[in-house]
Amino acid sequence: MNSDSKFNSLTTFGGDTPQLTTIVLLEERHASLKAYNTFRLDVKSDYLMRITDVNDLSEIYESQQYKRLKKLILGGGSNVLFTRNFLGIILKMEISGIKVEEDSSDSVIVSFGAGENWHQCVLWAIDQGLGGVENLSLIPGTVGAAPIQNIGAYGVELKEVFHSLEAYEVKTGKIVRFYNEDCKFGYRYSVFKGAQKGKYAITRVYLRLSKKPTFNIEYGNLKQKLEEMGVEELSLKSVSQAVIDIRQSKLPDPMVIGNAGSFFKNPVIENEHFESLKAAFDDIPGYPADEESTKVPAAWLIDQCGWKGKRFGEVGVHEKQALVLVNHGNGKGRDLVHLSKDIQNSVFKKYGINLDPEVNVI
Ligand code: FAD
Ligand code: EPU
Repeated sequence: MNSDSKFNSLTTFGGDTPQLTTIVLLEERHASLKAYNTFRLDVKSDYLMRITDVNDLSEIYESQQYKRLKKLILGGGSNVLFTRNFLGIILKMEISGIKVEEDSSDSVIVSFGAGENWHQCVLWAIDQGLGGVENLSLIPGTVGAAPIQNIGAYGVELKEVFHSLEAYEVKTGKIVRFYNEDCKFGYRYSVFKGAQKGKYAITRVYLRLSKKPTFNIEYGNLKQKLEEMGVEELSLKSVSQAVIDIRQSKLPDPMVIGNAGSFFKNPVIENEHFESLKAAFDDIPGYPADEESTKVPAAWLIDQCGWKGKRFGEVGVHEKQALVLVNHGNGKGRDLVHLSKDIQNSVFKKYGINLDPEVNVI
């Protein structure tokens, strides 16, 4: 093996400082992924490779030796639930770099390496006076994972600033460009969760950011929060800070208690179904999704079924946000799956609504 080969950066876990090793060292297998998923599940993976450029991907995917091993791209691990040890190679996305690609009077197109931390990129944009992502402050994870589920929060979704992405096509080894319309973005959805699932490793994401930001503060209590903060003139920074404050007051910090944010998506149901529920439960909240359907907060449904704050051994439902399942410490992925199924059954029984997981169950 060539000593410059990136295979030499294939690491296995076992301590704070991963040892450089070749992947043929069988005794180095089965080390913990606990620090690499925000549920803090102590599963083991056969191997892990840090992907710092596109060539790393070709080396791994084109190697005959590793062809038959299962592979999983991992960003920040903030939207995955490992139910068992991973028998294969974890490809930890660490491609870095921020580059202004196009500069016009109103906007710039900036490309971000897929391994860049999302929130740090939001802060970078704010520092440059570039708007569009401030409402998406403090969402954990990497830039490369952001298009996968079209991340969204506080009235904004990634698709609104997304220009394009580059991805390594696993089958052909080619770099392919996907533009906004190719991604078929929807609520917590893109083509990478549908027809193209598992077929691409996203390597760079291009966003169009505005030099003349317009502020979007209509969602929830964002406006009220800004008033409480005493903000008289809106700025990228103040909107970002308000979002950060609200998020910190509601959502548990994964460094303190294992979680992956919302476990389920908010269900979208037909208006007719919503009206019949409204007749039986007059306080049920709902927001128009389109002309025919209504989005219902899953947190409310789960809360009404009595799950909020409940603990079952090492796993449970967060005490402030019923949509967030938590690992109190030594929980197992399968316990979280059981809990999630019990929640789904009780919500279905009471409201006739199916909850779909947002989290990627591995
Ligand atoms: P990972 O969990 O590592 O991966 C998620 C999926 O994407 C996996 O299937 C993985 O294989 C795939 N993947 C990752 N990177 C790549 C790549 N480069 N190429 C191909 N496939 C890839 N989400 C929201 O939308 N809005 C929120 O407000 C929000 N709040 C959250 C709050 C908390 C406390 C937590 C823990 C999570 C929250 N999330 C939220 C979910 C999560 O942060 C996002 O889904 C985020 O984009 C996941 O990024 P990641 O790098 O951690 O992805
Ligand atoms: N609610 C309850 N009980 C609770 C919590 C909330 O009844 O325990 C009700 C309240 O009526 C509240 C409503 O549910 O008004 C909605 O709650 P919240 O504003 O906290 O938002 P959410 O719908 O639970 C969604 C996203 C979050 C995103 C926030 C802010 C989904 C699945 N989740 O949460 O995204 O940060 O809105 O935009 O769409 C994530 O995807 O991981 C995530 C955290």
